[in-house]
Amino acid sequence: MEPDLHELLRSLRVWDPAVTDLRPFDPERAPAEPLPLFARWLADAAAAGQPEPHTMSLATADADGLPDVRIVMLHGADERGWSFATHAHSRKGGHLAARPYAALAFYWPVLGRQVRVRGPVTAAPPEEARTDLHARSTGALAAALTGRQSAVLASPGELTRASEAAWEKARRSPTTPAPSWTLYHLAPVETEFFQGDADRRHVRLRYRREGEGWVRELLWP
Ligand SMILES: Cc1cc2nc3c(=O)[nH]c(=O)nc-3n(C[C@H](O)[C@H](O)[C@H](O)COP(=O)(O)O)c2cc1C
Repeated sequence: MEPDLHELLRSLRVWDPAVTDLRPFDPERAPAEPLPLFARWLADAAAAGQPEPHTMSLATADADGLPDVRIVMLHGADERGWSFATHAHSRKGGHLAARPYAALAFYWPVLGRQVRVRGPVTAAPPEEARTDLHARSTGALAAALTGRQSAVLASPGELTRASEAAWEKARRSPTTPAPSWTLYHLAPVETEFFQGDADRRHVRLRYRREGEGWVRELLWP
């Protein structure tokens, strides 16, 4: 028998003290820019045992403004912005070509923390994407070489054949180019840090780009 969905939902908890360490967060002591705080929170999440803290939701919108979201990996965060890589011809790649804006969300339940980032997205020069890809695993290259991401798959066998050929190529020639594989940089105009609180007085600190600097403001939870 199928489990009762509503009963299951009522039985599940957020921030079970056995799992989650809700730490105090003093926004007064936060740095003037979001990047160092993000780097610290990512390191905190990894050190606290958060599985896959470098994965994030990436939201885009199509040409009509309809939203979509999926998980991707964070490839870096520096003065160019928050970086991720994907196929230019995938659904998200099409969205970014039509509307070069996106939002990211990280959730680290072991610390009750969330980070949101939004802003314009630019594609990095192809050689940057190549260097990034070739520094990663054989599996990452094989996946990039498999291609046709987001196209309709006629049969699982077709994928197996394409993937086997891609793995073979990736093993034989680790510098094979994957032409549509693109590295994107999201330059934040807003970055929000959310620290959960047991009494629901969650701290929300938003950094808003203004000219060359950042305005820091608190938000009601
Ligand atoms: C943990 C995890 C990490 C992923 N990382 C990536 C990634 O870095 N790049 C990517 O193109 N897809 C990644 N995917 C697959 C995407 O979620 C998605 O299925 C794919 O990119 C197609 O999305 P689209 O049809 O919206 O373009 C990942 C999925 C998971 C679950």
